[in-house]
Amino acid sequence: MASPYWDEELAARFRQFRYEFAGRALDDRVIAVAGGTGGLGAAAVTLLARDGARLVVGYRANRERAQALSRAIAAQFGQKLQLVEGDLAEAAVRRAYQSAAEQLGQPLYGAAIFPGDPARVPWESLDASAMEASLRANYVAPILLAKELGSQMEQSGQGSIVLLATMQAVAAFESSLNYAAPKAALVHAARILARQWRRVRVNIVAPGATMAGMAEASVRAGKYDAYVANHAVPRFGRPEDVARAVRFFLEPDNYVTGQVLVVDGGLTLRR
Ligand SMILES: NC(=O)c1ccc[n+]([C@@H]2O[C@H](COP(=O)([O-])OP(=O)(O)OC[C@H]3O[C@@H](n4cnc5c(N)ncnc54)[C@H](OP(=O)(O)O)[C@@H]3O)[C@@H](O)[C@H]2O)c1
Repeated sequence: MASPYWDEELAARFRQFRYEFAGRALDDRVIAVAGGTGGLGAAAVTLLARDGARLVVGYRANRERAQALSRAIAAQFGQKLQLVEGDLAEAAVRRAYQSAAEQLGQPLYGAAIFPGDPARVPWESLDASAMEASLRANYVAPILLAKELGSQMEQSGQGSIVLLATMQAVAAFESSLNYAAPKAALVHAARILARQWRRVRVNIVAPGATMAGMAEASVRAGKYDAYVANHAVPRFGRPEDVARAVRFFLEPDNYVTGQVLVVDGGLTLRR
């Protein structure tokens, strides 16, 4: 006797080599992109808008950049972004993401949570307050947003959350203690949420040295040149590399949860 979950029609289709790959799978899906105006987030916003998603885009304070992105998306795809300004550490700001999504008239389907802080502090100044500040920015605020939006999605019946870590959260790099350890906590928390929820998938993208956003200055200054020179990576990362990974996890029929996708061109493996 076949399993009660067996779908014979589907099985027959596979035997005939007929497979379904969704085209514009994100059409009309409401997705919140926190930190969507940043160096990496803006590429994800652009890809998701191209794929037809309806977007709530959050940033902390750089309104000029947010408005410039909004104009670029309107010009390219005819979509008006719902912008949310403010620090994710504040509960009222996190609630504003939910209200902005409600205005789009569909249940919130997904969230990509980009905010983070490089938390660069000289070793001699690394004290409790510097460590707590990094923990708040790189762990507490993004995980609280994931918890709140994910609980709402779990109730509505489906959802997908993507959190942004870093290659430094999965491989040990010297001098990265203050940034990487809270990001490693974020990875573990995301896996716990993925375990806990039944209808919401939670995954992590861990970028490497990427040419935009918070690593731009270091990459431009040559900090990662040795990895290209010794062929550990074929080139520096681009925001589009990260955007594609984020979009992959957000696809509605995606079959992956609780995973970390390291988008580093092979740097952590071959360095
Ligand atoms: N760029 C890289 O090479 C790289 C590599 C590894 C990992 N990452 C990770 O990828 C994520 C995105 O990095 P990025 O390079 O795109 O950073 P970014 O260019 O500095 O952009 C950060 C974005 O998040 C917003 N933001 C920051 N703190 C916030 C807060 N407390 N509340 C609300 N919004 C906040 C910023 O808004 P405002 O501009 O208004 O402040 C901006 O939209 C981060 O988590 C980072 O750790 C980046």
